[in-house]
Amino acid sequence: MKAKVDQTDCIGCGVCTQICPNAFRLNEQGVAEVYTEITADLELSTIEAANACPVSVIEVEI
Ligand code: F3S
Repeated sequence: MKAKVDQTDCIGCGVCTQICPNAFRLNEQGVAEVYTEITADLELSTIEAANACPVSVIEVEI
């Protein structure tokens, strides 16, 4: 599975980093990035993070 953040529209709320800290982090600009491969054990929480993002900028590709 692949995931990415459209950083242009991320508002840096940090919800994704709270739900799935093993895949998402805030970078120095204060926007989210995916910093690791989405392994099987991270898939559910990655989808949960994507669904919870208030501006829907996390794209998940299965
Ligand atoms: Fe940004 Fe959405 Fe995460 S706004 S910080 S990608 S929950």
